[in-house]
Amino acid sequence: MAEHLEMKKTTPQEFLLALVGGLFAPLVAIILIIVYVMGIQGSLLDAGASEAEDKAVRERIKPFGVALAIDPNAPRVERSGEQVYNEVCGSCHAAGALGSPKFKDAAAWGKRIAQGYDTLLTHAIKGINKMPARGGDPDLTDLEVARGVVYMANAAGAKFEAVLKKEPEPTAEVLARGKAVYASDCAACHDTGVTGAQKLTDTSAWSALIKQGKDHLYKAAIEGSFGGPPRGGNDKLSDADVKAAVDYMVDEAKKAIAATEPAKQAAAPAN
Ligand code: HEC
Ligand code: HEC
Repeated sequence: MAEHLEMKKTTPQEFLLALVGGLFAPLVAIILIIVYVMGIQGSLLDAGASEAEDKAVRERIKPFGVALAIDPNAPRVERSGEQVYNEVCGSCHAAGALGSPKFKDAAAWGKRIAQGYDTLLTHAIKGINKMPARGGDPDLTDLEVARGVVYMANAAGAKFEAVLKKEPEPTAEVLARGKAVYASDCAACHDTGVTGAQKLTDTSAWSALIKQGKDHLYKAAIEGSFGGPPRGGNDKLSDADVKAAVDYMVDEAKKAIAATEPAKQAAAPAN
């Protein structure tokens, strides 16, 4: 019996080792296996979830993404007369809605064509009676409207060509005067863009302004426009001074716009 009682006493270290080996080691192994399996499942789940999530996110940001993807400085491709007609004018003119001359209806177009191309173009750009300005699409350029007019008029027997009246180029003298007026009375805002003034280097803003024509710009500069003071805030400036400044601004803006063109063309894929 005594021998039996002489069983070796386990030391605390041995106890701990036994505990770790016999209890913790399997436990740790089990935990590792669980973690591993969960990891696999997790990654599978993740893949599915992230795909769905991705799609949801893409869906959510879509309007912004699309808006951001449009390069405001990208050269605008002017639509053909047929495209303009299909996209804008046809909504009335195809059926003769609101009393509009119907497409290909030579009788309806006859006396209108007789007014001459310039008058038709002016009416199409500015609107007349129930015919809305630019067919109701303010984004159409003058040239696009002209092409739309020509497309419809020629389909009814006219032989017009889509040309635009050219604004007379300012003389070097006017530009020099304009430059001086600009420096003293306009640059403070239009060089910096303060309070929303269109910087001369802002090619997209100026493309849009130029499209409105000099007459509009002269008037806006002389009378003031939203946030832009009349005569740049200097009532000593004559109309001619303000117009000269506008001429100079448009000239500078056109140079800036032209400067962006070669780069764009180089970037365009060759065909
Ligand atoms: C909302 C309907 C509508 C749309 C869209 C529309 N038109 Fe018209 N258009 C009319 C009406 C109505 C008239 C007749 C106006 C009148 O002489 O009383 C007319 C007349 C015209 C005339 C003849 C003007 C004249 O002096 O006799 C031209 C040119 C013309 N439209 C061009 C266009 C072009 C180009 C587009 C597209 C860019 C267009 N229209 C889109 C309704 C429309
Ligand atoms: C105090 C600041 C300020 C000064 C000075 C100033 N502008 Fe402006 N200008 C503006 C602002 C702001 C706008 C933008 C208005 C808008 O949103 O259409 C503007 C717009 C314009 C436009 C575009 C009009 C339009 O349809 O939007 C022209 C052209 C213009 N200014 C000419 C001039 C000229 C010429 C002078 C100098 C004689 C001048 N400005 C001086 C603030 C100024």
